[in-house]
Amino acid sequence: MDSDMSMHASYAFKHTCWGILLLFLAAGVADCSVVVTVSGPHVVKVGSSVTLNVSITGATRPTIVWEMGEIPVVTWALGSGSPPAISDPGGVLSIERDGSLSFHNVLLNYSATYTVSVVELGVGSNTSAFTLQVFDDIRNVSVSTEPAKAVEGTSTLTLAYSSLQGEATEVKWFFNSAEIKNSAHYVISGNSLTIRGPTRNDTGRYTLVLKNPFSSETIHKNISVLYGPERPVLEVHPPKAFFVSGESLVLSCHADGDPSPIASWVFGGLTLPAQAGMLNLTNIQSSQAGVYTCVMLNNETGDRLEKNITIQVYESPSGDPMCSVMGVNGNQDLQYRCQWAGGTPEAQLSFPVLNATSSGSGDFNLTRKPSQDLNGKEVTCIASHPLLQRNCSVTARGPADFLPLVSSMVDTDGKLVITIACASTSLPVATVTWSKGNQILTSGGRYQISSNTTLLYINDFRLNSTELDTYTCNAVNILGSQKNDVAMLGPTVSDTGLFPNQEGTMVTLTWETPRTSVITGFEVQMTGPDLLPSPGGRRRRKRATNEFRTIELKPSSARSTDISWLDPKATYRFRVIPAAGGTRGQPSKELRAGPGGGLSGPAIAGIAAGIPCGILLILIIIALIILCVVCRRKRRQTRYPVSRAVEKAVATQPNLNTPHTLLTGGLKTSAGPPDYSAHQVSERSSTLPSVVSPPPVRMATTV
Ligand SMILES: *[C@@H]1O[C@H](CO)[C@@H](O)[C@H](O)[C@H]1NC(C)=O
Ligand SMILES: *[C@@H]1O[C@H](CO)[C@@H](O)[C@H](O)[C@H]1NC(C)=O
Ligand SMILES: *[C@@H]1O[C@H](CO)[C@@H](O)[C@H](O)[C@H]1NC(C)=O
Ligand SMILES: *[C@@H]1O[C@H](CO)[C@@H](O)[C@H](O)[C@H]1NC(C)=O
Ligand SMILES: *[C@@H]1O[C@H](CO)[C@@H](O)[C@H](O)[C@H]1NC(C)=O
Ligand SMILES: *[C@@H]1O[C@H](CO)[C@@H](O)[C@H](O)[C@H]1NC(C)=O
Ligand SMILES: *[C@@H]1O[C@H](CO)[C@@H](O)[C@H](O)[C@H]1NC(C)=O
Ligand SMILES: *[C@@H]1O[C@H](CO)[C@@H](O)[C@H](O)[C@H]1NC(C)=O
Ligand SMILES: *[C@@H]1O[C@H](CO)[C@@H](O)[C@H](O)[C@H]1NC(C)=O
Ligand SMILES: *[C@@H]1O[C@H](CO)[C@@H](O)[C@H](O)[C@H]1NC(C)=O
Ligand SMILES: *[C@@H]1O[C@H](CO)[C@@H](O)[C@H](O)[C@H]1NC(C)=O
Ligand SMILES: *[C@@H]1O[C@H](CO)[C@@H](O)[C@H](O)[C@H]1NC(C)=O
Repeated sequence: MDSDMSMHASYAFKHTCWGILLLFLAAGVADCSVVVTVSGPHVVKVGSSVTLNVSITGATRPTIVWEMGEIPVVTWALGSGSPPAISDPGGVLSIERDGSLSFHNVLLNYSATYTVSVVELGVGSNTSAFTLQVFDDIRNVSVSTEPAKAVEGTSTLTLAYSSLQGEATEVKWFFNSAEIKNSAHYVISGNSLTIRGPTRNDTGRYTLVLKNPFSSETIHKNISVLYGPERPVLEVHPPKAFFVSGESLVLSCHADGDPSPIASWVFGGLTLPAQAGMLNLTNIQSSQAGVYTCVMLNNETGDRLEKNITIQVYESPSGDPMCSVMGVNGNQDLQYRCQWAGGTPEAQLSFPVLNATSSGSGDFNLTRKPSQDLNGKEVTCIASHPLLQRNCSVTARGPADFLPLVSSMVDTDGKLVITIACASTSLPVATVTWSKGNQILTSGGRYQISSNTTLLYINDFRLNSTELDTYTCNAVNILGSQKNDVAMLGPTVSDTGLFPNQEGTMVTLTWETPRTSVITGFEVQMTGPDLLPSPGGRRRRKRATNEFRTIELKPSSARSTDISWLDPKATYRFRVIPAAGGTRGQPSKELRAGPGGGLSGPAIAGIAAGIPCGILLILIIIALIILCVVCRRKRRQTRYPVSRAVEKAVATQPNLNTPHTLLTGGLKTSAGPPDYSAHQVSERSSTLPSVVSPPPVRMATTV
């Protein structure tokens, strides 16, 4: 309905226009001047009411036409009875009686250039133009950035404003209070500010000031141009080239960036807990050595940066380096070996004497052709580890001069077992072959050869001429060979010696034996008065006897004995009898101690001649009387108890079943059975009367 009506109005309006045009043509010939002027405010605020005043001169009843831009909006024959023709859908316009154009509650879209035309038939016409601008308050302005996150390195950053209301007639941008002008860096155009190649230096406070005749608006926006992480700095505290296991350290990681990059530490594919980029490693172990990666993340831009640091953890090798030498490649080559296990890193090993340039780690072999240069040459291995330095040495040696050793013992069956040792100091250890005469000896039967071939055992050895033969050992190693003959001897004592002390109360008896003599023990024998039993003993001495009696049994290792409690005034004789099992060898030379051995016959005669015969006679008589008394008393007291040592030997029989014990029950020798047990040896002072033969007992020999 409304639209129908407006169409009707528009139709009428067009007819009126054509009428006006005809009037113009008619008036064209008239010769007079009409003047029209428009006055009023050029800028108005939206919603206000305003009037564009018209003043017309030279016409009295003109027809007036207002155009908005090119479009006629009001036509009226001034002062006529007919209403003005108004074409204004917004209902804002009205015309005053004098032809002025009024706006009521003006809208923004009424900003335009208005032209007023005045025509009076026959008088003339004229036009005048007027520009009106309608402004609103600037409200709800916002500034946005494109891209949304400002990142250093992008080509442009654009700040654009928009407002919900009001249009600005003046736009100004400021950066940290300084006004921004167009330049190579900044482009201001329309509602935007474009920054070319933004950097972190463009981070700051941006201010936008918008103005129009009725309002102004100021907007602040803080913009961070994000960057980084860049150039991570890794530090180790304490700063050391390497760490010893057990030490502690802190790794730290820093990098510049906006926002501050978040640091994390990765080791062996695992992310380790760290605080503010600090990684604490306490009591570090060699398993923790390696590459630590610091990962720096800008969590706003997603940019990452990694940096590696290598931590070395050293551990000393255990123990000491070990040097050895052996024959290899079928005993064609001499191999020197140096080993030092453990340790991080492995120790560097070398034999500079053999090869200055060659080295190995942990376990190092060096092979050489065997030569006499190397025989007896000390070869040192230099073992170096960052934490400590050590050496070891080894000397390869052919089986040089060495003396075979013979030792003897008695097995549990009372049989002699002989051991011949051909132990040379050779390195690599020599292999020994054994022979007796032309017969090569092998393990088996009565002969046993130790697995390393250096020992030959002969079981059930007989002291007869077949057995007491020459045995030969031939030691061979890669550097040479050495042959030795061992001519076995029966139990023999070679040198003897006797050394009394000053008071004449003690003697030291010494003896030697040939190296190849078969001996399992010694009997020490003496003649003369009994030994004093103890310092306070009241017992009288037994009269001196010329028969040898065994006072001590010594093991085969013994080469001397001390005999105490001798009577300085008495004369003694001593000798040593070697024994092999139940067989005794030749007794040693007899050795004398005491006055009898000290003064010669003529000396005694001289002394006797110097003493008056009367005194001598009296003294002899007194001596005889005293002797008689002593003899009578002693006969009453003397008992011959069985030696405690013998009792002990019997008591301890079950314990004697060791290779060192010997059954002497079947001994053919007439003398009392010697007891070589250690108990006996320790009880030196107890007397063993030669007259009394104790029952047969076991005896032991310590070899
Ligand atoms: C229109 O008015 C101007 C002065 O504003 C005047 O100079 C001019 O001559 C007039 N034109 C006519 C055709 O009257
Ligand atoms: C327009 O005319 C009216 C009355 O005729 C007057 O009140 C007003 O001040 C005039 N405006 C201007 C801008 O001259
Ligand atoms: C101005 O805008 C209003 C709506 O906002 C509309 O009704 C009116 O016709 C417009 N006026 C002109 C002259 O464009
Ligand atoms: C515009 O700003 C005013 C206050 O200045 C506020 O109340 C209003 O909600 C804003 N409108 C919008 C659409 O943001
Ligand atoms: C920021 O400015 C400083 C000096 O003003 C300059 O040295 C530096 O290179 C600039 N940084 C960048 C990323 O442009
Ligand atoms: C690392 O050690 C420092 C002191 O040395 C301590 O302040 C820090 O809290 C420790 N950090 C962690 C993650 O244990
Ligand atoms: C970045 O990390 C900070 C704290 O470190 C956090 O507050 C922020 O939300 C993170 N941003 C993103 C995008 O993850
Ligand atoms: C850091 O170390 C890891 C693991 O060893 C390796 O994969 C990576 O390439 C290294 N990074 C740098 C920057 O050297
Ligand atoms: C030492 O060893 C290196 C390699 O390990 C070898 O090339 C060189 O011939 C050796 N030098 C001697 C003198 O044997
Ligand atoms: C050294 O030699 C020994 C024996 O020949 C061998 O067991 C060892 O593996 C060798 N070591 C090295 C590092 O070759
Ligand atoms: C050979 O073996 C015997 C025991 O079987 C041992 O006592 C001797 O020390 C060894 N000799 C060497 C050189 O290894
Ligand atoms: C010596 O003893 C051995 C071993 O019992 C025996 O075979 C050999 O016939 C004896 N030789 C002599 C001469 O008695």
